[in-house]
Amino acid sequence: MPLTLLEKNGPVAILTVNRPDKLNALNAEVLGELACQFAGLENDADVRAVILTGAGEKAFIAGADIAAMRDLSTVDAKRFSDMGHALLARFERARFPVIAAVNGFALGGGCEVALACDFIYAADNAKFGQPEVNLGVIPGFGGTQRLARRIGIARAREWCMTGDIYGADVALSAGLVNLVVPRAELLERAKATATKIAQKGPLAIAQAKRVLLRGADESLETANELEAQAFAQLFGSVDQKEGMSAFLEKRAVAFLGK
Ligand code: COA
Repeated sequence: MPLTLLEKNGPVAILTVNRPDKLNALNAEVLGELACQFAGLENDADVRAVILTGAGEKAFIAGADIAAMRDLSTVDAKRFSDMGHALLARFERARFPVIAAVNGFALGGGCEVALACDFIYAADNAKFGQPEVNLGVIPGFGGTQRLARRIGIARAREWCMTGDIYGADVALSAGLVNLVVPRAELLERAKATATKIAQKGPLAIAQAKRVLLRGADESLETANELEAQAFAQLFGSVDQKEGMSAFLEKRAVAFLGK
């Protein structure tokens, strides 16, 4: 059984972690397959948005694989952590948005994967948390950092130090997820948003994603300068002339990604 599944529907791709018997836990093989599939999507000019989800009814991703991690040496643990970080950095650096459709447990590495996506839609049965302290470790795929940046450092401290698990409603009010919907509607809602984004100018989407990410850790002055440069750069594109001409000529826009 493949560890990941890829479904393409026009410009929208759905990438599914497919290890439901282990609640989609991430081992090195799954991380490797995800990286491979993602590289394929990055190289496919037709792809404009990606949805990431988990197979089965119970879990998005219930964490890094505890059985695979138990006997790791320090060196191997660093390698495993680096592998996770590299994959998640790739999600963040992609030219298109990656939307997490969280359909159940998103614990430990699962919460970290969702955090590296552009935003999260959650089913009403979704559960989030960083329970690594229960296992004698801490998050290893960026959880301490991205969670603090997303929900604030005090909440992140509480989540990472108690290891508690939170429902979708708490995740929504904390600002971790953008939307909570009934389980049966999750993928349709994610697809609708992905399709909407896929119709915009792809160069503009790529720049918006880049500036929002890069600017977040800069001073306001530096971040605004990044924005101004990206804004100006887009005026060198065919799509900017097309987008503004289509508006002024009251006709449908046809973006080329050029
Ligand atoms: N790593 C490896 N295997 C995992 C796993 C993980 N993170 N999470 C779940 N599994 C496996 C279980 O070992 C079990 O395998 P088995 O059927 O061969 O025994 C299978 O997935 C089903 O999980 P189970 O625990 O029986 O389901 P549950 O509904 O009773 O509990 C959870 C669900 C999510 C509460 C529980 O699986 C859990 O606590 N998982 C670990 C969460 C965690 O600590 N993640 C952070 C890791 S750093």
